[in-house]
Formats: sequence, C-alpha cells, structure tokens
Amino acid sequence: MNLLEVKNLSVQYGSGQGGVLAVDGVDLSVGVGEFVGLAGESGCGKTTLAMAIPNLLPKYASITTGTIEFEGQDLSNKSESELNEVRWRDISVIFQGALNALNPVATIGNQIAEPILIHEPGTSHDAAITRAKELLEAVGISASRSSSYSHEFSGGMRQRVMIAMALACRPKLVIADEPITALDVMTQAQILELLRSLSETFNLSMLLISHDLSVLAETCDRVQIMYAGKVAEVGTADDVFGEQNSAHPYTQRLLKSYPNIHQERKFIDGIPGYPPDLSKSHAGCRFAERCTVSVEKCFTDEPELAVISELHRSACHLVGGSK
Ligand SMILES: Nc1ncnc2c1ncn2[C@@H]1O[C@H](COP(=O)(O)OP(=O)(O)OP(=O)(O)O)[C@@H](O)[C@H]1O
Ligand SMILES: [Mg+2]
Repeated sequence: MNLLEVKNLSVQYGSGQGGVLAVDGVDLSVGVGEFVGLAGESGCGKTTLAMAIPNLLPKYASITTGTIEFEGQDLSNKSESELNEVRWRDISVIFQGALNALNPVATIGNQIAEPILIHEPGTSHDAAITRAKELLEAVGISASRSSSYSHEFSGGMRQRVMIAMALACRPKLVIADEPITALDVMTQAQILELLRSLSETFNLSMLLISHDLSVLAETCDRVQIMYAGKVAEVGTADDVFGEQNSAHPYTQRLLKSYPNIHQERKFIDGIPGYPPDLSKSHAGCRFAERCTVSVEKCFTDEPELAVISELHRSACHLVGGSK
C-alpha cells in the first residue's frame, strides 16, 4: 500500500462563473520512503494539489471530487480537529516562500520546540528543547545556536531551520513547496543533499515541488508533470527526463526551456503562448494550442493518461509518436 494515494482530486477556488478549477481530476501517489517531484509552469496547480493533502487550503477553496488516502484513511472528509492530528505528526509542510516565515522574536530552539509541545502533549519544555537541538544538529546547525534569533541566520540556515521544524514531530511525509528556490546554487545543492540524507535517517517520504527540472531529476524517484490543473506525464525520473524517454510534448518543451551548462550557448526555446484560463471549461487537450505537433483530435478529445511502461503514463493522443 502506498503511503499517500490521491485519486481523481479536483479543487476549486470560489464558485460559479468566477470559480477557478485549479486542480482537475488529478491522481498522485507517494510510496513509503519515496521522493516524488511535482513540476509544471507557474499556475498549473502544484501548490493547490499539495495543500489539499493536509487540507491547508483557504476557506473559499473546496475539494469538489476525489479521495486523499493517507495510510488507507481518506483525509478529504475529515474534520479540522481530525486533520490537526495528522498535520505535523504524519504530514508536515515546508511552505512556498517560507524563508521569511520564522518568528523574529522567538529563539530558533523555541520555534522548533513549539509544534512538539502542541502536538505531543505531555512532553516537557526541556525535552522539547533537547529534541530541537538534536534536530538542529541533524540539519547541520550547531545545537548551541538554538538560542539565536532568525535574523542572525543566513537564508540557507533559515531554510535548514524550516526543515528541522518540519521534522519536529517525526512525520512520515514532508511536502516541500519550492524549498530551495530562493537560495544560491551551492546552498541549493547542500539542502537537497540534506533532504536526501534525512529521508534515510528519518525514513521520510517526500513530495517535492520545484520549477527546476534538474533538481527533480537528481533528487526524485518519480516525477509528475502538471499542466493547467491536469497531469500531463508521470513516471520515474528517467522515464520523464531521460533523453528520448519523455512522452509528452509539454515535458519535451519544458526540458528544452532549461539551459544546459555543458552545451554551446544558445537562446533558450521557451514555450510561446500561455496556459489556458482555468475559470473556463476546456475541450480537448489543454496544451493543444501551444503544441507544435497537435492534430485535429487534440482540439476536440481530452486525452487520458495512457500507459507507456510500468510506471510511465502520458496524457497525449500522440504518445510515443511526437518526439
Ligand atoms: N488563493 C487563491 N485564490 C484564487 N485562486 C487561486 C489561489 N491560489 C491559486 N489560485 C489559482 O489556482 C491556480 C493554481 O495555482 P497554484 O498556486 O496551485 O499554482 P502553482 O503551480 O503552485 O504555481 P507556482 O509555480 O507559481 O507556485 C492558478 O490559476 C491560480 O491563479
Ligand atoms: Mg506554487
């Protein structure tokens, strides 16, 4: 059994005419100890999908279809108090843009200890601080810094603190939404290395959201590419990113939109046009307008996720024939 099994999930912001269907019938699974990457252009629904899992969506968002099974239990219809049992202890989140989310007037040690004190009643303050110090050491910060404040830390160190906090209640799944975007490449590499090694130490599973395909290729076991609220392609990192392997024209164009330091300098391709408006309904494939290989059917029939190999699926009518 997978740790997380999301099926046919749809999430809508607002309702009626102005409603935005940000996630539309999406499946997502994360196995025990597995790292799954989520990628796709800005606005394709990555954060919405991720936040729907522990239901941290804003009030005016609603889950309109689907199930979110975590260890076999459906989270989509749980009450707030039941979800509070799951958050932090089973599933923790490193939020997008969280680098500045630390409390400026509380010491780092107290901030890491806080979720432990809230979610593990009966733990003494001293025991929580001891664990906070161990967590700081685990993320490569000396325990002696636990009485420092966030402004005394660099961006990379603050991100390590956020990771320590996410691990405070020994969760099984960490959802990390762009955890390294604001950092320089050296620090990014260190943080990724850290996440990988912590996953072994703490037996973690991870849902990692990143715009950076090379980060996902290096870090993740499987990768899911989203486009306009739908899954375009999913498979092992090699299925999706391997040369000649990626099966969806959108993934192929995304890959071409990334600079490759080993190749001759040239202008990056980019993908002309914009994703469709998610407040409108769509016929056919959502990428058809921007796709260079689309055929008539692509504008009328919505493609299903077709099986390519064991773990590889692609939602394209031209699967395999579009390279
Ligand atoms: N709080 C909100 N209220 C209304 N619409 C929202 C809200 N958050 C997101 N949306 C809309 O839902 C869609 C998906 O947004 P989401 O933030 O999930 O995308 P994303 O893939 O995480 O993008 P990014 O890469 O920029 O973080 C977008 O069209 C966005 O405009
Ligand atoms: Mg986002």
